Amino acid sequence: MIATAFTKLVGVSAPIQQASMPGIATPELVAAVAGAGGLGMLGAPLLPAPALEATLDQLEATTRGVFGVNFLMPFLDPACLEIAARRARVVEFFYGDPDPALVQRASAFGALVSWQVGSLAEAAAAERAGCNFIVVQGSEAGGHVRGATSLLPLLSQVLEQCRVPVVAAGGIATARSLAAVLAAGCGAARMGTRFVASAESAAHPAYVKALLAASASDTCLTEAFSVMWPNAPHRVLRSAIAAAEALTEDVIGEMQLAGQSIPVQRLSVLAPTADTRGRIHAMALYAGESVANLTSVQPAAAIIAELVSGAEQLLRQAAR
Ligand SMILES: Cc1cc2nc3c(=O)[nH]c(=O)nc-3n(C[C@H](O)[C@H](O)[C@H](O)COP(=O)(O)O)c2cc1C
Repeated sequence: MIATAFTKLVGVSAPIQQASMPGIATPELVAAVAGAGGLGMLGAPLLPAPALEATLDQLEATTRGVFGVNFLMPFLDPACLEIAARRARVVEFFYGDPDPALVQRASAFGALVSWQVGSLAEAAAAERAGCNFIVVQGSEAGGHVRGATSLLPLLSQVLEQCRVPVVAAGGIATARSLAAVLAAGCGAARMGTRFVASAESAAHPAYVKALLAASASDTCLTEAFSVMWPNAPHRVLRSAIAAAEALTEDVIGEMQLAGQSIPVQRLSVLAPTADTRGRIHAMALYAGESVANLTSVQPAAAIIAELVSGAEQLLRQAAR
């Protein structure tokens, strides 16, 4: 057990937060992470209010662990915010200026509130806005990337200045990197890419296979996959950009969303899930530089157990 300010605040036993990944982080993944002692995160963006209620029912029935709900500011649905803040331990925001009124609203329903940030100024604003903890995202991160600074320089600044617990995100996938950010003073690490390659992830098998074969330099920051969400840099496998640019058709596949088949447009923001058909390699294959450390697909509980016991051992060795 590694106890930190974050684990005590949130009530988890592992200093690990799984990143919300709409469509990919299934309720089964969130429940598995929560059941293994981490903080499981559900993404709100693709869930209308009744579907969010139903998914929270499912989570409550399948885990006694701790979970939260993540909101992307450009897609924020106030009805969902109220549902999440009433029913989840953590409500979290990403991609927008920290908003004290929003933080207060979520807190008033009883949730802990956090904000994923990409700069020192944004971290300070999140703390001023009343967040209970802050997620600091380095530019190594997979998926949408808020800032331009890599994790360690940004963490050093934020840990100096902010008093609330800090969670580190971006490029972390091993016990060594978890131990490093804990030793630096963080309360936990948040991981996305590592959990894309988990047994409970809904990522398309070809996407997972591409991740397992990739190194950090196979990823790049781009604005290429901007249909539905323009002007928002994101880190993907470079090969996906080349594959998408080589195509000319507007629609390159279809996927299931809320029980309905929807077309996948070329350069859409949607990552391919197991039930997606079409040009999978040309879709948004989000990947952090942490992709270099992926070696196999494992159950989420095994990932958490491996990371926590490895980090514990490393921190003990470092203290000798
Ligand atoms: C497939 C994918 C989808 C993501 N979707 C979201 C999201 O909806 N909300 C969010 O706050 N962060 C999202 N992120 C970013 C993560 O919160 C986190 O910053 C990132 O995964 C950390 O880097 P790593 O992938 O190297 O672990 C996503 C990341 C990935 C890989």
